[in-house]
Amino acid sequence: MATRALAIDEARIFAEDVRDGLNRSGQKELPSKYLYDDLGSRLFEAISLLPEYGLTRADERLLQRHACEIVERLPGDTVIAELGSGSGRKTRWILEAFSRKRHTSYFPIEISAAALQVCRRELSDIDSISIVGFEREYLDGMREAAARRRTGQRVLVLFLGSTIGNFDHPADVRFLSEIRNILEPGDVLLLGADLEKPVDLLLAAYDDPLGVTAAFNLNVLARINREMDADFPLDGFEHLARFNRDTGSIEMHLRSRRNQRITFARAGFSVLLREGETIWTETSHKYSLSEIERLATSTGFRNRAQWVDADWPFAETLLEAV
Ligand code: AVI
Repeated sequence: MATRALAIDEARIFAEDVRDGLNRSGQKELPSKYLYDDLGSRLFEAISLLPEYGLTRADERLLQRHACEIVERLPGDTVIAELGSGSGRKTRWILEAFSRKRHTSYFPIEISAAALQVCRRELSDIDSISIVGFEREYLDGMREAAARRRTGQRVLVLFLGSTIGNFDHPADVRFLSEIRNILEPGDVLLLGADLEKPVDLLLAAYDDPLGVTAAFNLNVLARINREMDADFPLDGFEHLARFNRDTGSIEMHLRSRRNQRITFARAGFSVLLREGETIWTETSHKYSLSEIERLATSTGFRNRAQWVDADWPFAETLLEAV
């Protein structure tokens, strides 16, 4: 019964977000979290294998190379909470390094039940790690995970894969401040952030020739059709990736190929899209090292160590809550 009430609540919030985002008088928008239903999460996994998209491989390389060093810098009695664990593949290096020290609890936090299931399956073979997943929004999941710490235990939060870049500025500052408020001084955050790089590399990474990123982006319309009984014609929209030099971010949009009215039968409204008009679906910010430093200090952390990938500019930064 409680689960059903939660599902009804989520459907209502989803419909409200879609209605608000598409009724904006200026730029229409859809919150990027809705890209990640079960199919969207699988499509993102496929993106991470694309030769043009070096981000995930850089993140994994850094974790593989430096996991022991990262873990050596932390107290033995530490519980690990991960925001957006995905398949958990890159977390393996950190968990294995921990498991050589002592028994540790790992709390993956995911909005996708399917991703959580894959993560549990992939990582369950690691000795001395107990896994308790939370199918929640990040902050709710973090509160639950932090509440499970025992006296004297430290919390390590993993926020990898540059998901921080998907928060529009200043939402990234607000989000890290909220994380900091849940933590205690001495707790740590390992933050993965994609760095500035040439625009042509970025455009290829976010508009790949196979069309996987286009499918990932268009899936949000297919999801709205499925879950809200809407009638977006998928061939009426095209994927667009563009670099915004003012903000230093890649933006994904869906551009309407013609004037068209879209009806949302279940929610009882409709929206007119003009030819060429876009729906902004995601921001992916590319940081400079000094920006990461500023972000950390302005949200109550201090930089304890940082590792940068040589092939695909990407930084792993170990931040301590002060
Ligand atoms: C999950 N996130 C860090 C990805 C990114 O690169 O911003 C999402 C993505 N969007 C398109 N390709 C990948």
